[in-house]
Amino acid sequence: MYTQLQQRDMSEPPMNISTLASIRSQKEPIACLTAYDASFAVLVDQAGVDLVLVGDSLGMVIQGHDTTVPVTVDDIIYHSKNVSRGLARAFLVADMPFMAYTSPAQALDNSVRLMQEGGAMMVKLEGGAGQVRIVEHLAQHAIPVCAHIGLRPQSVHKIGGFKVQGRDSDQAKQMVADAIALQEAGADIVLLECVPNELGKAVTEAVRVPVIGIGAGPHVDGQILVLYDILGITQGRLPRFVENFMPGSDSPGEACRRYVQAVKDRSYPAAEHCFS
Ligand code: KIV
Repeated sequence: MYTQLQQRDMSEPPMNISTLASIRSQKEPIACLTAYDASFAVLVDQAGVDLVLVGDSLGMVIQGHDTTVPVTVDDIIYHSKNVSRGLARAFLVADMPFMAYTSPAQALDNSVRLMQEGGAMMVKLEGGAGQVRIVEHLAQHAIPVCAHIGLRPQSVHKIGGFKVQGRDSDQAKQMVADAIALQEAGADIVLLECVPNELGKAVTEAVRVPVIGIGAGPHVDGQILVLYDILGITQGRLPRFVENFMPGSDSPGEACRRYVQAVKDRSYPAAEHCFS
């Protein structure tokens, strides 16, 4: 009766939190990308991406907003449903949008919707030790959680822009303490955005769960980027951690495969993608 989750006519079983943890323990980098629709979900899945995130970055790259703040739970569910239909192997994580987790009860209701209606296997929420109560409540109800720390785009108006975080040593110590507290509260993955390499290393060494970085340097357990950024679709000034994999690729699928290969052989991120 467990066959659906274990094999879908595939040579390899689909990813789950145990297989992600075992990739980490074998010291193989975990390759992750965002996706927002079924067609691209098929491409990234076939490219060998281990984890796909339906990120609230969809507010910027799909909806054309300047920030992720306007994204709603219904938006995430709509895109997550579409992505889940395109995936066979990759693990599907869906973002909890701005103000969707202000209390344990609200967080649980919205997580259940992302999983039952959106097909997500894990929810991601932004915040440090202040989210411990929420993460504990979700973990007590067997909701897998990814805790997003470092640069938290939902707080952009409070932070005052998309900036590197943790350059100050007190802030760096607090971030390591936050990662540990979130892990102890039940977080299964930590996502670390836009921090200096050394802090990426310190957080990764401080916790047992996989740490996925975006602009967090080469020492984390895996890398994630926004799909439209690696395909050269996003216009304007891009963060330094972005690499466009379209030049030299004859199709978007090949660009995704080259991204996965670069993460796996650690040629991405290179020094020019990192912060000190
Ligand atoms: O929303 C998103 O796509 C994200 C990634 C940038 C990690 O949170």
